[in-house]
Amino acid sequence: MRCFGVLLFLVLVLLSACSNFDGCEGKRHWRQRKASSSMVRKKGKEKNGGRHGHGGGGRGGSGHLSHPPAPSPSPGAGSPESAVFDVLDFGAKGDGVADDTKAFEAAWAAACKVASSVMAVPPEFEFLVGPISFSGPYCQPNIVFQLDGMIIAPTNAKYWGSGLLWWIEFTKLKGITIRGSGIIEGRGSAWWSYAESDVDPIHDELSSTNLPQIKPTALRFYGSYNVTVTGITIQNSQQCHLKFDNCEAVQVHNITVASPSSSLNTDGIHLQNSRDVMIHHANVSCGDDCVSIQTGCSNIYIHSVNCGPGHGISVGGLGRDSSKACVSNITVRDVNFHGTMTGVRIKTWQGGSGAAESIRFSNIRVSEVQTPIVIDQFYCDRSSCRNQTSAVALSGVAYENIKGTYTVKPVHFACSDASPCSDITLTQIELRPLQEHYHMYEPFCWQTFGELYTPTVPPIACLQNGKPASNRILSDHDLC
Ligand SMILES: *[C@@H]1O[C@H](CO)[C@@H](O)[C@H](O)[C@H]1NC(C)=O
Ligand SMILES: *[C@@H]1O[C@H](CO)[C@@H](O)[C@H](O)[C@H]1NC(C)=O
Ligand SMILES: *[C@@H]1O[C@H](CO)[C@@H](O)[C@H](O)[C@H]1NC(C)=O
Ligand SMILES: *[C@@H]1O[C@H](CO)[C@@H](O)[C@H](O)[C@H]1NC(C)=O
Ligand SMILES: *[C@@H]1O[C@H](CO)[C@@H](O)[C@H](O)[C@H]1NC(C)=O
Repeated sequence: MRCFGVLLFLVLVLLSACSNFDGCEGKRHWRQRKASSSMVRKKGKEKNGGRHGHGGGGRGGSGHLSHPPAPSPSPGAGSPESAVFDVLDFGAKGDGVADDTKAFEAAWAAACKVASSVMAVPPEFEFLVGPISFSGPYCQPNIVFQLDGMIIAPTNAKYWGSGLLWWIEFTKLKGITIRGSGIIEGRGSAWWSYAESDVDPIHDELSSTNLPQIKPTALRFYGSYNVTVTGITIQNSQQCHLKFDNCEAVQVHNITVASPSSSLNTDGIHLQNSRDVMIHHANVSCGDDCVSIQTGCSNIYIHSVNCGPGHGISVGGLGRDSSKACVSNITVRDVNFHGTMTGVRIKTWQGGSGAAESIRFSNIRVSEVQTPIVIDQFYCDRSSCRNQTSAVALSGVAYENIKGTYTVKPVHFACSDASPCSDITLTQIELRPLQEHYHMYEPFCWQTFGELYTPTVPPIACLQNGKPASNRILSDHDLC
C-alpha cells in the first residue's frame, strides 16, 4: 500500500513528463481516480472522522473504480492527463431526491485548484442540485465540467428564497468548458404559469408551490473568458436557458435547448455585454427568443441553428427604460425557423439611445413563421408604452437570401420618426403565404431607408430609397 502511495506520488509529480514514462499510458485515468478518491477520504476524515464508502452500491453495477467514467480525451478540449473530480466521490447520491448541492460545491472546490482539471458528473445518475455558483476568481484556468448525467432543479420553494436570478452559475473563470451528453433539467413548468410582468394575486393564491415571482435562468456565465458549452441539453428552464453576461471568446455548439412553446419567458440563449461569441449547430425550441442579443454585444456569429417553436432570433429589446444600448457586428446565417413567431427581428424600446449597426442575416429558411423579417422600434411587452422621440439608432442591416413561408406578414419594418432606420438592404427575399387563398398582410415599412438589391417576392414597395434627411443632432449620449 505504501509502495503504491509512493508510486502514485511519483506519477502525479511526473505527470507532465508522463508521455515519456514507460507503461504510464493505459493506467493514467485509473490512478488519478484513485488520487481523487483518497483525497476525498482524507477530507472526509478531517470533517467527521471517516466517510461512508460508497462501494459499488447504487452504481448500476458498473463498478466504477475499475471503469472510471473518465472524460473522453477528445482532441482540442481538455487533455488526457487531466485530474478528474467526480461528484460521486464527494458524496453526491445522484438519486434525484437527495440534495447533492454540497457535493457539487466540494467537487468544484477541489477541481478549482488544479489547472485543466475535470469535474465529472457521471452518466445514468440524476443529481438534484439547488442554486449553485461555480465561482472562479481564484480558480486555475481551463477547467472542464464534464456533464454526462442529469442535473435537476429543485421545485420546492424553500430552495429559492425570495427569488434568485439564476440556478447554475459560472463566474469569473478563465477557460471553462462544459461538455458531455448530459442534461440540465430546470423542471420549469411550475414557474411558467405566471408572467413576471403581470403579477396576478388571484393566480398566486391558487399556486400551490409558492415559488417566488423572480424566475431563475438555468445556466448563466458571468465575467468569463474563453468559454465553451458543447454536447449538452438544457431543457424546461424556469426562465432563460443559457445566458452569457460580460463574457468574451464564447463557443457554443452542438447543444440542444428544449422547452414547450407555451413556456413563458424561456429564452434559449441570451447574450449581454459579451463579445466574440460563436453559436453553431444548436437546436433550440422554447417559449421565447431562440437567441436574444442584448446591449453591449459585438462580434457575434450564429450559424447552423434550428429555431422553433419560439419567437425567433432577436437583437434586443434595446434601450429599455431610456437606457443606452450598443450592439454591432452581428451575423446570423444558415438558420432554419419552423413555426416561430418571428424569424430575424430587431426590437428597440422608445426612449432609448445608442446604436445597433452592422447586422447581417443571410441564408435563412422559414416555414410557417408568422412574420419572418421584423424591425420594431416601438417594442413594448406591456399593453401600452409611453410615446417618446428618442430611439436606439438602427443602421446597416443586410437581409440576404431569406426564403420560405409566413402566416401573417412577410416583412414588418417599423422605425422611429426621430431616428429612421438607414442602410437597410434586401437581397433575394422570397416569402410566400403558407396558404395562398388566405388574406395576408402586405409588407409594411415606416421610416425605413435603404435599397433592394434584387427584386423581392412579394415586392417591397414601401422601402424608401437613399438616406433619411438627418435632422437629428447626435450627442455623446448617442454615440457608441
Ligand atoms: C481556451 O480554452 C481551451 C479549453 O479550455 C484551452 O485549451 C485554450 O488554451 C484556451 N485559450 C486561451 C487563449 O486561453
Ligand atoms: C454532439 O454531442 C453529442 C452528445 O450530446 C455527442 O454524442 C456527439 O458526438 C456530438 N457531435 C459532434 C459533432 O460533436
Ligand atoms: C438538430 O436536429 C437535427 C435535425 O433533427 C439533427 O440532425 C441534429 O443532429 C440535431 N443537433 C443536435 C445538436 O442535437
Ligand atoms: C466581426 O465579427 C467577426 C466574428 O463574428 C470577426 O471575425 C470580425 O473580425 C468582426 N469584424 C470587425 C470589424 O470587428
Ligand atoms: C402614441 O402615438 C401613436 C401614433 O401617433 C398614437 O396612436 C398613440 O395613441 C400614442 N400612444 C400614447 C400612449 O400616447
